[in-house]
Amino acid sequence: MQKKITILDFQRMKAEGEKIAVLTCYDFPTAGIMDGCGIDMILVGDSVGVVVAGHDNTLPVTMEEMIYHTKAVLRARPKAFVVADLPFLSYQTDLTSARMNAGLLIKDGGAAAVKLEGGANVAETIRAITDMDIPVMAHIGLTPQSLHRMGGFKVQGKGEEQAEKLIADAIAIERAGAFSVVLEGIPMSLAGRITAELSIATIGIGAGPLCDGQVLVLHDILGLCSKYSPKFVKRYADLAPIITEAVSSYIADVKGGTFPEERHSFK
Ligand code: KIV
Repeated sequence: MQKKITILDFQRMKAEGEKIAVLTCYDFPTAGIMDGCGIDMILVGDSVGVVVAGHDNTLPVTMEEMIYHTKAVLRARPKAFVVADLPFLSYQTDLTSARMNAGLLIKDGGAAAVKLEGGANVAETIRAITDMDIPVMAHIGLTPQSLHRMGGFKVQGKGEEQAEKLIADAIAIERAGAFSVVLEGIPMSLAGRITAELSIATIGIGAGPLCDGQVLVLHDILGLCSKYSPKFVKRYADLAPIITEAVSSYIADVKGGTFPEERHSFK
């Protein structure tokens, strides 16, 4: 039987060069399936606002929504380590609300850790949350909650000056006590430099193969998100046409009177 994955496993995996496989997940049945496949870490990402709720970006996502989805994932009793995203405005305004909201994702949601976006600017927040014994995953580079500052979803850390800033951010995050960091949308060589510099695990998305692990949004790898498919996504299934065919067949059966049959009925 697969054992429960804890924060200690990620340090070991980095030290032993074992890559860490992470996917986002937002619901009970999918959490059960992906846990059965042996995923190391499940991220209940605020990407739920885009791929499930249909928003254009993650900014509208609320704490209530994050707790709801985290609870649903935890009902599958996954062996994987579950991290829940702190949504926009739940940790930026003051340390007290950051601590309270991180606590709620653990206490009500059942997550084992929280993730927040930012580098040196959130070091104090990371310290405040880790001081409560809540593990924190940081997230630097292309940080979707900073969409308006970045002027869109653009690759970050391209020049040497920007690269140096991101390296300094990564070091500040590690010093503040984060157990891991997501590197999103940065050049692969920079991701390699950060990964070599840090003793905590780096999890890449659009950051190339030199990170300690990788994360992708589940709906992207399953072909369920038709809006936009970034270059860094690898699609492992094309479920939209399969769902289209199933739903169309159901409609045709109902309209044509071929469903339900006697065998679907009670006597
Ligand atoms: O919300 C999310 O899904 C994320 C990943 C893309 C890293 O933050």
